[in-house]
Amino acid sequence: MPAGVTQASIDEGHTAFNGASCKRCHGLDGTGAANAPSLVSGKWLQSSGEYRDIVRVITNGVSKAEIKDPSHPFGMRPRGGTDLADPAIASIAAYVWSISRGK
Ligand code: HEC
Repeated sequence: MPAGVTQASIDEGHTAFNGASCKRCHGLDGTGAANAPSLVSGKWLQSSGEYRDIVRVITNGVSKAEIKDPSHPFGMRPRGGTDLADPAIASIAAYVWSISRGK
């Protein structure tokens, strides 16, 4: 696992992902929905998919101009529009990292 990622952080991030706005756009468990890509496919639009890149994308968001797949109508606000602090964002990123492994 990447430095900073533990099974406990993955589990915390899983709960937070589905409890926060992430689910609204990315679907339950990140499996994809109309407004945002699947996060389980192992294909990455915004970064290499490395853990630290996932933290960066979630923290900074994706502006409308940066969207890669034009079927997505809205950008993603920084922190997915939440007010989650860095440790919670790191756990959510750990979860996102974990669900895309082995693809
Ligand atoms: C308003 C809808 C919306 C919300 C809410 C949202 N996202 Fe996103 N997300 C997007 C869009 C749109 C993209 C960029 C897709 C593209 O480039 O076509 C994106 C990209 C991403 C990426 C990069 C995926 C890649 O392929 O590189 C990650 C990781 C991500 N979001 C995680 C999250 C997390 C975690 C949350 C909750 C904290 C969240 N998102 C909330 C719409 C959303």
